[in-house]
Amino acid sequence: MTEQRMTHRLSFPQGFVWGSATAAYQIEGAARADGRLPSIWDAFCELPDTISNGDTGEVACDHYHRMAEDLDLMATLGLPSYRFSVSWPRVIPDGSGPVNAAGLDFYQRLVDGLLERGITPLLTLYHWDLPQALQVEGGWANRDTPARFADYAEVIGRALGDRVPTITTLNEPWCAAFLGHSTGVHAPGVSDNATALRVAHHLSLAHGRAVSVLRGLIPASSRLSVTLNLAQVRPASGSPEDLAAAGHVDRIANRIFLDPMLRGRYPQQLLDETRHLTDWAFVADGDLAEINAPIDVLGVNFYAPSKVAAATAELRAEVTGRWVNDPNQAEAGPSPWPGTDLAFSVPQPGPYTAMGWPIVPEAFTDLLLAVHRDYPEIPLVVTENGAAFDDVLTADGRVHDADRIDYVRRHLAAVHAAIEGGADVRGYYLWSFMDNFEWAWGYSKRFGMVYVDYDSLARTPKDSALWFRDVISDNAVQL
Ligand code: FCB
Repeated sequence: MTEQRMTHRLSFPQGFVWGSATAAYQIEGAARADGRLPSIWDAFCELPDTISNGDTGEVACDHYHRMAEDLDLMATLGLPSYRFSVSWPRVIPDGSGPVNAAGLDFYQRLVDGLLERGITPLLTLYHWDLPQALQVEGGWANRDTPARFADYAEVIGRALGDRVPTITTLNEPWCAAFLGHSTGVHAPGVSDNATALRVAHHLSLAHGRAVSVLRGLIPASSRLSVTLNLAQVRPASGSPEDLAAAGHVDRIANRIFLDPMLRGRYPQQLLDETRHLTDWAFVADGDLAEINAPIDVLGVNFYAPSKVAAATAELRAEVTGRWVNDPNQAEAGPSPWPGTDLAFSVPQPGPYTAMGWPIVPEAFTDLLLAVHRDYPEIPLVVTENGAAFDDVLTADGRVHDADRIDYVRRHLAAVHAAIEGGADVRGYYLWSFMDNFEWAWGYSKRFGMVYVDYDSLARTPKDSALWFRDVISDNAVQL
């Protein structure tokens, strides 16, 4: 008798948007082409010991020169939507001042090329590549940078706002603020908690100002949003200290952005518990009202939950190493939570992805339900979710990435469970369309549904891409 596999089909709501995502610095390459000047990531890659293997984004996937071919592949793979980011230093090379027509033209062609193929663009204005010319002036620690960002948003709004239905201001300001200015593992490589908090505020201010500028330029039917990587925080134990640490991390990682953006205030407890780090004097009168400019949708990125413990004397004594990206939990021990001395991130049990991130799909359901509970008025879109695995191009010319299919399948089931539980989730973007420059990890980590051979730059859809195509056309996932 043949054994029958029980399958279970989870259908998504009608109109659910499916897509895949990338970011400019991670795929474009062409770092010096057509008038582009360096970003903070070009500069950071030049520093010793910042990126695995000394990799840089100089060539990356060379998407800048292969854009039409990549768009054709998206169409072949049945992608209804594509999330990309604009490189600020390609469009305004000095960060402020003259617009580089050739740089802007690339994004005109990208958007037109998507629309010609029936693919809906979702544009991110800032995916971490600040023009280096602005960093020289202090970067995001400088209160002038939000004003420069609003000018840049205006340029993009005028050029593309008529045909991009959703514009996201910032991608993961938490990473830009805290990995860039507290742990220093991301550009610009600063390590100072007070600066990180100031930068977080300036990023939020930049977001609010860009929203206001864009609102006046885009069609009434267009949507404005921000993408946050919210921490799904789990306490290491039920002790009052660990529970308090989890509450603190929820404030310093999540509510530090959610509350000003969606409620027009910082949590008082966050201000109080970080007074020994900063007096928050960088919050000027009127800032919170500007940050609170209404948005239409919230982008949520999720990869893995976080487990946190109180910063006990024992933990402080135990930790010697620096914080390494999102700590490779398969190997690393506890590490201070970025931006604070009051909580530690502690390892979690496997299984893990190739990043060493634990695979816990239920945490995704919990996160989406919690955001919906606390901010019920804002629709959600999953703007990133996916996994790195050690993919191999086999002799049959294929990449049999069953582990990625399993990860995505289970995370889609988790999204589905959140929707069933009442969360208003409108779409899902797989990170990433193709393998790319994974920041401090360089090319050593592959997140793509399309495999990239970094010698020939040839693209090969992985099994997950073919599987995802079926999910999209069924608007359902089979368990
Ligand atoms: C997110 C970033 C994205 C990519 C994934 C793996 O934090 O937004 O660029 O690096 O992680």
